[in-house]
Amino acid sequence: MQSKIFNSQKSDYSTQGLFLGEDSGLMDTINKKFPRIWKIYKTLKKMDWDENEFDFSDCAVDFKTCSPSIYRIMIKNLAWQWETDTIAARSYLPILAPFISSTEAFAAYTEITKNEIVHTLTYSEIVRNSFDNPEEVFGEILAITESLARLDTVSKVFSTIYKVSHEYALGLRQASDIEVQDAVWTFITTMLCVERLQFMSSFAPTFAVCNTGLFNPIGKAVQKIAQDELEIHVEMGKEVFKFIPAGIWDRIKPNLEAILEEIVERELTWAGYLFAEGDELVGVNEHLLKEWVLFNAKDLYKLFKFESKYSLPKVNPLKFMEKWLDISKTQPSPQEEDNGQYKLNSVRKDDVGTTFEIDF
Ligand SMILES: [Fe+2]
Ligand SMILES: [Fe+2]
Repeated sequence: MQSKIFNSQKSDYSTQGLFLGEDSGLMDTINKKFPRIWKIYKTLKKMDWDENEFDFSDCAVDFKTCSPSIYRIMIKNLAWQWETDTIAARSYLPILAPFISSTEAFAAYTEITKNEIVHTLTYSEIVRNSFDNPEEVFGEILAITESLARLDTVSKVFSTIYKVSHEYALGLRQASDIEVQDAVWTFITTMLCVERLQFMSSFAPTFAVCNTGLFNPIGKAVQKIAQDELEIHVEMGKEVFKFIPAGIWDRIKPNLEAILEEIVERELTWAGYLFAEGDELVGVNEHLLKEWVLFNAKDLYKLFKFESKYSLPKVNPLKFMEKWLDISKTQPSPQEEDNGQYKLNSVRKDDVGTTFEIDF
């Protein structure tokens, strides 16, 4: 049997790291070395939800009657979120799979990838149910070129690892190849920047609109997506980052610093674009959104121990985001609306003793 399919000669079960060990053999729970990653996998498995849990049909009226300003902001945001979650769903496991050595990491990345599928299907369901002609809006969304430009930096990193990943899977590259090592860890850390910074900044205009009472089902669904991102995907990224080999970190650090700065710049540019047509939102303007971007970037600068050229806000400039990002503070009565929070509550009970380090 080809060793990439099943490696019966594998000898590093008890010593292998997360990535780039000998080719995979048995998936085993005997040699577990990453208990926190296992916990993340189990927690997300229990949090599994479905894109059809929410009835988005009420949103059709809101899209028809809201101001052009709100309409534009909602569509611009949906475009980016839908596209980026599609990329996440198609890249997380497919790209990382050839490199993953540990069973815990394989299980966790599989579950996260499944979760990204739920996210992107949710955006698709929002569009399918909210418009009389979803095909037209589909085209409208794909025509927003700024949303792909916002991912320009990220797409360069993903293109590199896409090629390296396939070459590695075909046996054309080895684990000792520094380009392979750097591509894996640059992908992991860049994805963390997307999830911790770009997604968190994209949620702010959505929640600002939903704060006014509009698009309630979208608010609830996106709130679940935000919770998955912040409490699970970001925590996974931070946990995995703890295991980056020192030599690889020294090599990729300057490039990652430039990537983070570029991502911050992309977000600041997007904040300008979002309000470019004089569009207005209650509770968020261009300045506050930029401050929110920098406030989220602060967590990454701290994690990577990078100096920032920006003045990073000490306090959260968008207080209302705390309510939306902490689901327990926004419990609706179950009779009133689709309540996406029941699963979280059952997960919480199971999570006693687990500390998730969300930095705000
Ligand atoms: Fe996602
Ligand atoms: Fe994610």
